[in-house]
Amino acid sequence: MENAPYRQPQFIQLHHEDHAAVRAELIAGLLAPAATTSPKYLYDALGSRLFEAITELPEYYPTRTEAALFDEHKASIAAALPTQATLVDLGAGNCEKAARMFEALQPSRYVAVDISVDFLRGTLQRLQRQNPTMEMIGVGLDFSSTLTLPPEVGDGPRVLFYPGSSIGNFTPTEALAFLTQARLVCQGGGLLIGVDLVKPISILEPAYDDALGVTAAFNKNLLLYINRLIGSDFAVPDWTHRAFFNAEQSRIEMHLQAAHDVTVRWPDGQRDFVAGERIHTENSYKYQGADFDALLRQAGFQHTRVWQDAQGWFAVFWAQGD
Ligand code: AVJ
Repeated sequence: MENAPYRQPQFIQLHHEDHAAVRAELIAGLLAPAATTSPKYLYDALGSRLFEAITELPEYYPTRTEAALFDEHKASIAAALPTQATLVDLGAGNCEKAARMFEALQPSRYVAVDISVDFLRGTLQRLQRQNPTMEMIGVGLDFSSTLTLPPEVGDGPRVLFYPGSSIGNFTPTEALAFLTQARLVCQGGGLLIGVDLVKPISILEPAYDDALGVTAAFNKNLLLYINRLIGSDFAVPDWTHRAFFNAEQSRIEMHLQAAHDVTVRWPDGQRDFVAGERIHTENSYKYQGADFDALLRQAGFQHTRVWQDAQGWFAVFWAQGD
């Protein structure tokens, strides 16, 4: 018997890892007086799995609060958005959150964007079989610096979907640049975005320093990834997980703190850390709803909608790009 003529997803890889640049950037961060690393180094294969485990922790409220919001307000969200649009999933990963919106949003085309198109292949092929008439495109793109979509994404309004409060990894200035680019590429559609809100420290801090130590493992795993990337000799037991709310900057900061004096070596370099010295590994900004709305308007969006949970812990914004 002949196979049914299923549509096949199209795959486009635009991002090419430049190993020399990655090395140079990492080493510059490690040698800076206040050592820093980009949060993207939290996500090797193990780091991605540890993050998935974090989303199931009792202390980590964002994922389940956002999922409940999308679920509860599906109909009113769909009513605010264009139908038959191109759904562009930014940081798609396993495509699960977007797929749950297919029924309500009825997109004509689904574009999954992630840093590596290889992560998307299996998932998109499966999703394509479940949605045989939807056009599907996987794009390998690092949109954290510039958000430009390839022409294959096509005409018509685009609903940019950016859930999970990943916007929190950007500084407010970077977030404004990102939101402005989102408005410019949405072709009259808009941006559907999840944003984590300011709340009591007694809720915020345990979400990033959980009792099981999964977030600590997630943070420390970055050292193993960096060892592979630059040939360094970080030893996990030398480092302690630290996570705290910086109220002045309205952000959770994650750090790795030297438990005692440590020298880290890599081919042609080294860094001495004194006991207590830290490597800043991530920021996760928390917004007041009104402040994020103001940021959207600063980015040129004139019509916004917001859905929030009863406790005001998380918000989903729709920003229309007309
Ligand atoms: C994936 C950036 C949204 O900031 O909450 C979770 C990452 N870091 N626990 C967040 C994270 C520590 C997460 N984001």
